[in-house]
Amino acid sequence: MNYRFYGADTVELAKKYGTPLYVMSEDFIVERCREIHESFLKKYENTYAVFAGKAFCTKEMCRILKREGLGLDVVSGGELYTALSVGFPADKIIFHGNNKTLSELNMAVESGVGRIVVDHDMELDIIQKIAEEAKIDASVLLRIAPGVDPHTHRYMVTGQADSKFGIPNKDAVLRHTVQKALSFNNIELKGFHFHVGSQLLDNASHLKSVDVLCTLFDKLNQWFDYWPHEINIGGGYGIKYTHEDQPEQLNAFISPIMHKITEFSEKSGKKRPAVIIEPGRWIVGEAGITLYTIGYIKRIPDIRTYVSVDGGMPDNPRPSLYQARYEAVIANKYGDPLTEKVTIAGRCCESGDVLIWDIEIPEPEPGDILAVKATGAYNYSMANNYNKLPFPPIVMLKKGKDRLIVERQTYEQLVSREL
Ligand code: LLP
Repeated sequence: MNYRFYGADTVELAKKYGTPLYVMSEDFIVERCREIHESFLKKYENTYAVFAGKAFCTKEMCRILKREGLGLDVVSGGELYTALSVGFPADKIIFHGNNKTLSELNMAVESGVGRIVVDHDMELDIIQKIAEEAKIDASVLLRIAPGVDPHTHRYMVTGQADSKFGIPNKDAVLRHTVQKALSFNNIELKGFHFHVGSQLLDNASHLKSVDVLCTLFDKLNQWFDYWPHEINIGGGYGIKYTHEDQPEQLNAFISPIMHKITEFSEKSGKKRPAVIIEPGRWIVGEAGITLYTIGYIKRIPDIRTYVSVDGGMPDNPRPSLYQARYEAVIANKYGDPLTEKVTIAGRCCESGDVLIWDIEIPEPEPGDILAVKATGAYNYSMANNYNKLPFPPIVMLKKGKDRLIVERQTYEQLVSREL
């Protein structure tokens, strides 16, 4: 039996487009966008949702988001350019980054992005200058490093005190930065942002961070008689990579956070600030699979069997970067008994290029198609050309029909920038 993914026969897709091949389900993405509408946007007034583009930034994704009425978080001129190139509304874009360049800030102001999230007080001076010259007011949020440390891979933690991201949660620094933002004529301080980390299976760190921000709001009220219009609580909602991952439902994740913010605002006798969420992985992670062709099978007696595939760390750097775990099936032997424990190796000249350690599969043979699951987030967006391997194409599935949304990179394109 062949493995089917959202109505498509994956073995046929591999034949038609070749491997390695990213396959994405538009149905899944749309389902997730609609769940955000149901369990967040419609449920609570004065709320907004943006997709964190870093998880999967392509023109087609921007078109889908536009149709589904979600905003977009970008972290670079490149991501901003991608969105603008398909007419994504600039006012629904939030521009992040701990070290945005002058030209990127110019591009953001000129294109009229909805919010710039300021990571450092020096950035305020630059934005003020650009906005003054453009004779506009730039709407900004200040990113706070709340000083909480969630339980996830250390490279996916962002909100701890010792972090390159955000303004430190120290009274003197905060007071200085907020005062500066409020004093600038062409800067409108809309509120605050935090993002604590990624692939979080519960909301404990978000709740702690909301406490930190509420304490800050009380202080700002006393210091400057200032109350924020907005609070952006970042992304980070975990997904199911393997059967062991049990992420909280979005509704269960968010509702205690909303309750806390509402209760605090009421106690303070103030209007609840607008609440913005920025999920990336949660929208696209489980929407994707990657198809590979199995090549050589190396059996080392009494030690291990390596099953090599025609991709690896260039199309999915996550296992080697974060020891991320994935599940996979042999697509043309789906449902066959799992008779062997093997290790799936990538094809790079790198011992760390292993996609999955110790997985049980039916007896593998050269030419079999391997489908690795839940590769929709941070795979294509983190892909690279190591060993001069060309980028795989992306096929989008909608109601069982496939269409190419990104072409396979050719050898000519691989060298086209080299003089
Ligand atoms: N907002 C901000 C400001 C962020 O920095 C991030 C992720 C997100 C939202 C979205 O987080 P998500 O909902 O996708 O967890 N490359 C790593 C993940 C790095 C995420 C960095 N920031 C990975 O492959 O796991």
